[in-house]
Amino acid sequence: MSIVWQDHWDLGIEIMDAEHRALIAALNRLIEDFAQAPLSSEDPQTSLRAQALMEALEAFGIQARAHFDHEERFMRAIDYPHLGAHASEHALLHAEFIEMLRAWKQQRITRLDAETLIALRRWLVGHLLDADREYAQYYYTHCLSASRPR
Ligand SMILES: [Fe+2]
Repeated sequence: MSIVWQDHWDLGIEIMDAEHRALIAALNRLIEDFAQAPLSSEDPQTSLRAQALMEALEAFGIQARAHFDHEERFMRAIDYPHLGAHASEHALLHAEFIEMLRAWKQQRITRLDAETLIALRRWLVGHLLDADREYAQYYYTHCLSASRPR
């Protein structure tokens, strides 16, 4: 069930790729720790597990928001003309995550089922494959004399 990094997800911008890979690694740790069903709903460990899962998801959301901030700083540094639109998309993604978190908290989930994992994966990877490629393309075209090596 874990997510295997695909080479074509690389933007060719080392610092951003490292952060993207770290986010995927964090998601894989969540999968490793929380994809399995807990023992039983009567088990006193269950509420602790729900709490641990929420804390881990919150930490993941904070890591993602910090990455979005870094990316916006990078786009500002290269004078990316679509920074505003990209930053709005980050704000929307962050709001979506907060909303998912609220719903999961309300449902008191104790594991990341397949549906939750698909939602999380789509949330993260969809953005990497779409909007992030656009600023990377701008970077190769306007900021590098040589084009992308691959
Ligand atoms: Fe982005």
